[in-house]
Amino acid sequence: MTNSAKNINILFIGDIIGDPGFHIVSTFLKGLLEKHKIDFCIANGENLADGKGLSEEDSKKVFALGVDVLTTGNHVWDRWDSRKVLSSNKNILRPINYPKENGGFGFGVFENKNKIKVGVINAQGRTFMQPIDDPFKSIDFAISKISEETKIIFIDFHAEATSEKIAMSWYLDGRASALIGTHTHTPTADAKILPTGLGYLTDAGMTGPYDSVIGMRKDNAIQRFLKQTPHKYETAINDVHLCGVVLQIEIETGKCKSIEQIIFPTFTTTQ
Ligand SMILES: [Fe+2]
Ligand SMILES: [Fe+2]
Repeated sequence: MTNSAKNINILFIGDIIGDPGFHIVSTFLKGLLEKHKIDFCIANGENLADGKGLSEEDSKKVFALGVDVLTTGNHVWDRWDSRKVLSSNKNILRPINYPKENGGFGFGVFENKNKIKVGVINAQGRTFMQPIDDPFKSIDFAISKISEETKIIFIDFHAEATSEKIAMSWYLDGRASALIGTHTHTPTADAKILPTGLGYLTDAGMTGPYDSVIGMRKDNAIQRFLKQTPHKYETAINDVHLCGVVLQIEIETGKCKSIEQIIFPTFTTTQ
């Protein structure tokens, strides 16, 4: 992907899972930023602290690698420490549609090193998830505010249901640059640009261990399904992949010009 002054290249990294996820990001991010001439980098950090939430130290380590903004999701609330970080750092977002009394920021406008403004929104779905405020209306509100400053608007839509994510993509086409799904920890194969310029992917997938059940140890996860009772969640270790997406956005119009899915290294398909 080439870049020029009329476009901005954005890298988004899917849910970083604990130490294995951080390790692969710390190993390969610099190379990815150079290879794709990235101007702005966003990552989902809801699972940074051993699968649950993020600490101030975790966020500092990720920002030091070159990530500009961290988004989160439902698991950010699992760790009490996360609340302090969310309230004190505007570059760490939490889904906008949680009650405001939880503190934190659901969207923001950020400047990259070339003074290009990028709006980022973090929202969460309601289907098979907590019945929080309407994500559609919440994103409308954030877009109206961000549009006063920039046309470049990236949304991390943290949601379980594919249908809710796809509905949101049609709802936003023409009004935002990109809508990328997170939360299921499994990459989907539908990266595309909608007719009016919205870059879309149902789920970026996690950046973490795939020798697992969505990041957690397989044996415990299987017991949950077999016995229908709680079993300890422990972050898995092996088969770590970095998953995300590279988007090229036209600065003047905010339209997505190209979208490229990243799964690194590629999954094993032969034996
Ligand atoms: Fe996650
Ligand atoms: Fe989640």
